[in-house]
Amino acid sequence: MGFTSSILVKSLIVMLFVGVVSAQLSTNFYSKSCPHVFQAVKSAVQSAISKETRMGASLLRLHFHDCFVNGCDGSVLLDDTSSFIGEKRAAPNFQSARGFEVVDNIKSAVEKACPGVVSCADILAITARDSVVILGGPSWNVKLGRRDSRTASQAAANSSIPPPTSSLSALISSFSAAGLSAKDMVALSGSHTIGQARCTSFRARIYNETSNLDASFATTRRNNCPRAVGSGDNNLAPLDVQSPTAFNNDYYKNLMSQKGLLHSDQQLFNGGSADSTVRQYSANPRLFSSDFSAAMIKMGDNKPLTGSSGEIRKNCRRPN
Ligand code: HEM
Ligand SMILES: *[C@@H]1O[C@H](CO)[C@@H](O)[C@H](O)[C@H]1NC(C)=O
Ligand SMILES: *[C@@H]1O[C@H](CO)[C@@H](O)[C@H](O)[C@H]1NC(C)=O
Repeated sequence: MGFTSSILVKSLIVMLFVGVVSAQLSTNFYSKSCPHVFQAVKSAVQSAISKETRMGASLLRLHFHDCFVNGCDGSVLLDDTSSFIGEKRAAPNFQSARGFEVVDNIKSAVEKACPGVVSCADILAITARDSVVILGGPSWNVKLGRRDSRTASQAAANSSIPPPTSSLSALISSFSAAGLSAKDMVALSGSHTIGQARCTSFRARIYNETSNLDASFATTRRNNCPRAVGSGDNNLAPLDVQSPTAFNNDYYKNLMSQKGLLHSDQQLFNGGSADSTVRQYSANPRLFSSDFSAAMIKMGDNKPLTGSSGEIRKNCRRPN
């Protein structure tokens, strides 16, 4: 092959490759194929949150746990079977991830409006936005066009979703692996302005940490989280001590008064590189809202399946 034609072939291959990896999501992806998708999702999310306010938090978290494990591809929703191990029993999800029945209901409503068109991964992205809005947080335009995986990975779920024991540097590198900056990480952690955590997720902090833990807050939390491992493991406490069902910037104010519930939360305000961002978000709710929205869009861009990769699942719990 001549020099020029070999260069030509190589640039063609590069162009094809770039075309595949940068296949774009877009906000109007379903504008012709499913114009009512937003309305269908919103009313189903609204009715779920009316029944149980916490559900908004649980649904937001599902999108995070989807996107951090091999990209936003609906993998977190696949059920285990006798011949298939999914992500639901992975350490970060087991006895913790919830809202799967609500996702089923949303999917049914969407399938009724436009059968076989909208992916479960996109449903999680819209649902996360709607949950935040309904609980009083900011809104953003959700990018769409993701397709659903045919597989899941328990090992990747164990290793890619950071545990509550994480240090600041572990949090930064875990988010970096999902294409997110340290600032994105601090902004997205503001999600812990809503929802609940189990005793097992914060026991070590409330009994063993002293330097960066408010003493009366620790006493309050110990009341419902016994010291002994195995007793009261699933007892719940709000991640945001001030306003657990309102999406606001109180999370950062809590951190500044040493009232982060998780060890990983308090790592964001512990004399390290994230302190200044926590101060900013605590002082400036509008800055938090806009950075949070931008970071949610960025998280939703993580390695989606597009084009003819993957499939549009009929039932979010199993491959077609
Ligand atoms: C920065 C690293 C993060 C760590 C270490 C972390 C860890 C945790 C843990 C341990 C819980 C409690 C689980 C339980 O005890 O059952 C939790 C709950 C929650 N997380 Fe995170 N998380 C992180 C980031 C995020 C992000 C980026 C989001 C959303 C974009 C998020 C949304 C939530 C929500 C909403 C809840 C409450 C869920 C509910 O009440 O059902 N978290 N997280
Ligand atoms: C993932 O973690 C769970 C819970 O700790 C464990 O039972 C399971 O064996 C792990 N799976 C893999 C594939 O590492
Ligand atoms: C606290 O730390 C001690 C010693 O490091 C350890 O044995 C114990 O299990 C820890 N307690 C909790 C609740 O994690």
